[in-house]
Amino acid sequence: MDAPRTLMKCLGQDMKKNSKPRHFASDNYAGICPEALAALAQANTGHEVSYGDDTWTAKASDLIRDVFETNCEVFLVFNGTSANSLSLASLCQPYHSILCHEIAHVEVSECGAPEFFANGTKVLLLPGENGKVEPTAIERAVTRRTDIHYPKARALTLTQATEVGTVYTPDELKALWGAARKFGLRVHMDGARFANAVASLGVAPKEVTWQAGVDVLSFGGTKNGVGVGEAVVFFNVELAQEFDYRCKQGGQLASKMRFLSAPWVGLLQDGAWLRHAKHANAMAQRLDAAIRELPRVRVAFPVETNAVFAAIPDDVVQALHQRGWKFYTNVGVDYARLMCSWDTTKEDVDSFAADLKELTAK
Ligand SMILES: Cc1ncc(COP(=O)(O)O)c(C=O)c1O
Repeated sequence: MDAPRTLMKCLGQDMKKNSKPRHFASDNYAGICPEALAALAQANTGHEVSYGDDTWTAKASDLIRDVFETNCEVFLVFNGTSANSLSLASLCQPYHSILCHEIAHVEVSECGAPEFFANGTKVLLLPGENGKVEPTAIERAVTRRTDIHYPKARALTLTQATEVGTVYTPDELKALWGAARKFGLRVHMDGARFANAVASLGVAPKEVTWQAGVDVLSFGGTKNGVGVGEAVVFFNVELAQEFDYRCKQGGQLASKMRFLSAPWVGLLQDGAWLRHAKHANAMAQRLDAAIRELPRVRVAFPVETNAVFAAIPDDVVQALHQRGWKFYTNVGVDYARLMCSWDTTKEDVDSFAADLKELTAK
């Protein structure tokens, strides 16, 4: 039912009064970046073969192989939850367990999808500073119980960049790989913000994936600038066997696949993916610098990618919301999470920081 005109007018005025052109709630609040949108429009001509046998999907997959400088198997799916759950399911039997950080997206934000798609595989939680898993925690979790009554550890999933915006260096990943390999664990990486991590580290993508023991990566596109879709990238190609069936059964095989693939071509072909990630990271640096010295504000984690997590008093959070700023205060940790995206401007950052400054001075 449509709202009465008067109510709509009133809502419209209210929203206009408080509306901001862009928010800090999530990098998926942003639209499609121009490069992805142009490729999408270009793909929208004539007929193409369906279900992934089209030229755009072939091109996107080749570009992904170029990015990682290796022969890998690529599958495009609709979102990060399915990328993570289906790839983790392909690493485990139902009697296995998956180790992850206690605030990993697979644990706190996927509604049990990894366990569901893996038919009951248990997710076991590891603590760790700054959102990062540590090698000793892997050893502890695996050796705590080795009897038949406990699920057998089979996979480790790491988030890069982490849920709190920090990054694993290549050396840290290699140390984790060492611990995982010792116990026969396969390694999955949740790379919803992989581009931001690579841009922050300034490394070749291969250095933080297959050269550091990653078997399969959920390569994030949505937060980087496509409208819909993530890529599941198997560096361990044997594990990709029959993954196409898993995608189909999981409702993740797009019939008009070219519309998932073409934006990836736009994003990757001239390096827009890293340009946008660098920009988002730079905006987070700017935000961090503008707010970290404010009274009653404490930046909670090192700002290494496109997120700033900050302790901000409740009254100030409410006042910021009143002024129209949207952001979350409960994503995995009890801090305000301020996300920058490919289209965040300096003016957005300065305007938010000015409001925060004014409100914390009161
Ligand atoms: C770390 C992480 N992984 C995965 C995802 C993808 O989730 P979705 O299923 O919403 O695309 C997100 C999105 O917020 C995320 O932050």
